[in-house]
Amino acid sequence: MIEYDFIIIGTGAAGLSAALHAAEHGRVAVLSKGAADDSNSSWAQGGIACVQSEEDSIEQHVNDTLVAGAGLCKEGVVRAIVTDGPARIAELVKWGVHFDQREATDGHLEFDLTREGGHTRRRVLHSADATGRELTGKLIAAVRAHPRIEVLEHHFAIDLVTTAKLGFVSEERVVGLYVLDEKSGEVETFRSDRVILATGGCGRVYLYTTNPQIATGDGVAMAWRAGATVSNMEFIQFHPTCLYHPQKRSFLITEAMRGEGARLVDKDGNEFMQKHDPRGSLAPRDVVARAIDHEIKRTGGPCVYLDISHKPADFIIAHFPNIHRACLEVDIDITRQPIPVVPAAHYQCGGVLTDVNGATSIRGLAAVGEVGCTGLHGANRLASNSLLECLVVSKRAVDFILQKLPVGKPHTQSYDIPAWKHGDAQDLDELVVIYHNWDEIRRLMWDYVSIVRTNKRLQRAAARLRNLKREMQEFYWNFRVTSEVLELRNLVETASLIVDCAVRRQESRGLHYTLDYPATENAKPPSDTLLRRY
Ligand code: FAD
Ligand code: SIN
Repeated sequence: MIEYDFIIIGTGAAGLSAALHAAEHGRVAVLSKGAADDSNSSWAQGGIACVQSEEDSIEQHVNDTLVAGAGLCKEGVVRAIVTDGPARIAELVKWGVHFDQREATDGHLEFDLTREGGHTRRRVLHSADATGRELTGKLIAAVRAHPRIEVLEHHFAIDLVTTAKLGFVSEERVVGLYVLDEKSGEVETFRSDRVILATGGCGRVYLYTTNPQIATGDGVAMAWRAGATVSNMEFIQFHPTCLYHPQKRSFLITEAMRGEGARLVDKDGNEFMQKHDPRGSLAPRDVVARAIDHEIKRTGGPCVYLDISHKPADFIIAHFPNIHRACLEVDIDITRQPIPVVPAAHYQCGGVLTDVNGATSIRGLAAVGEVGCTGLHGANRLASNSLLECLVVSKRAVDFILQKLPVGKPHTQSYDIPAWKHGDAQDLDELVVIYHNWDEIRRLMWDYVSIVRTNKRLQRAAARLRNLKREMQEFYWNFRVTSEVLELRNLVETASLIVDCAVRRQESRGLHYTLDYPATENAKPPSDTLLRRY
C-alpha cells in the first residue's frame, strides 16, 4: 500500500494546479492515465476568461455567465469564481505561463484580450490559438520540478475506496483507491484521506467530439460508484465549430475566430445566424449549435462554413497560426477559403455535485475542473469559463480540505484497504467485442441523445444502455482489467447518467432541448437534476 497526504487524479489544468497548491502542505501523488500532457486542457485553444481591463467588470462577467447558463447557474458560485480569477491568472504568470500581450495607447504592455460567444466584453486571455499547450506545458514542468510531488503517468484510477465500501458505517469518507499500472498490468492500492478527482469530461461518449481519447467520464463514473451525488449530466455542450474533414475529425476551430470577425455561412456564402438570434455568430453556444443543426437538416448538406477570409492574411496567421497550419494540412487555406464545420460534443456542464470549494458529498473527496458540477455553468457554459473554474476551484479545494483534514494531525482511525483481487480473471482476447461495444455506445448517444432530443429517443438509448451495462459487468468480473475494459465500463456508466438526467428534465433549457417539451419551465428558481445513489 502506497500512502500520500494528497492523491490527485488527473494532470489537466485542474489537477496540476491542485498539485502545486497541495505540495505546499504535504506529499502529493498526481496520476494520469496515459502521458501527463494528454488532456483536454492541453487541447484548449481560445483561452481563459477573466476580468482584466478597465472596460470590463466582475459584475459584467457574472452577468454574461448567468445569461449563458439559462437560469441554472448558482449566482454566489459564479461571483466567487469570477472574483478569484485575477489572482489565479497572476499566479499562472508567476509559474511562467505566457499570455499574448499588446502595446496599449500609452505605450505600456497589456494582455491582448479576445472575445468569444456570449461575452459582452473582450476578456479572454490567450496564447495565440494554443493556450492549453502553453498552460499545461508550464504547469507540468513546475510539477515535475517540485520535490514533494510525484507524477505517476500511465496510472489508471479504477475505483475509489470509501469507509462505506470497507463496511464501516459510522463515518463516510474516502480512504484511497485502486490504480492499474498500465505498463506492468498490476493493480496497486493507494491510501490517502485527501483525494482530488480532476479527471476531466466525457466527450468520447459521443461519436463526434472535440475531446481527446482520455475523455471517457472516468471520474463521474468512479464517484457515482462510490456513492457521490451527481448532477445536471443532461447538459452536454456541443461546440458549434469542429472541422468537418475525414482526416481531422476532432479538430476544433476556436470560437475566438468568431470573436475576431469570422462569420457562419451556408454553402452559398449567406450568413444565417441573424435569423436565429440577434447576437448572430456570437450568440451563446447552445443557440449557435442548434442553429447549425437546423441549417444542416434544412439544406441536407453535411456541414456549414466558417469564413474569416475577408480579414487580412497576416492578421489571420498571427492570431490563428495552429489552425491555419492544421487546415493547410488538409488543403484548406483559411486566408482564402471558408472552413467546413459541424457541431461536436465538447464539454460536460454537469458532473459530481460540489460546492464552490469542490467538496463532494463524500468527506475528503473533492472534484475539480470539468468532472465537477459547482453551479458555475448552469445549463450552458460560457466560453473559456472552464479553465477559469479549473484554476479557481482547485485552489479552493486544497484550502478547504486542509481546513477539515489538516495534514499531520491524526483525525480518525486508520483503515487497511484489502489488496486488489484478480479472482479468476483471464487475459483479454476478445478486444474486438470491446471495440464493438465502444462504437455502439458512441453512435447511439450521437443518434439519440445529442443536440435535439425526444422522449422516444431517450427511452431507446436507455434500453440499449441497460443491455450494454449488463454485458460490461460480465467483462469486468470475468477478465483481467485493462484500460480498454475500464474505459468502456466508465463510458457505459457515464452515458447512462446522461440519459437518466435527460429523462428527468421535462422542459427545454440551455443545452437540453427536447421536441416533447420545447418550452422552458418558468419555475423560480429552476431545479438542478440530482442523482443520488443511496
Ligand atoms: P483534463 O484537462 O481533461 O484532464 C483530465 C486528466 O485526468 C488527464 O490527465 C487524464 O489522463 C486524467 N484521467 C482521466 N481519467 C483518469 C483515470 N481513470 N485515471 C487516471 N487519470 C485519469 N476551455 C476553456 O476555458 N478555454 C478554452 O479555450 C478551451 N478550449 C478547448 C478546446 C478543446 C479542443 C477542448 C476539448 C476543450 C476546450 N476547453 C476550453 C474546455 C477545457 O479545456 C476543459 O474543460 C478543461 O481543460 C478540463 O480540465 P480538467 O483539468 O478538468 O481535465
Ligand atoms: C474555443 O476556443 O472555442 C473553446 C473555448 C471553450 O471551450 O471554452
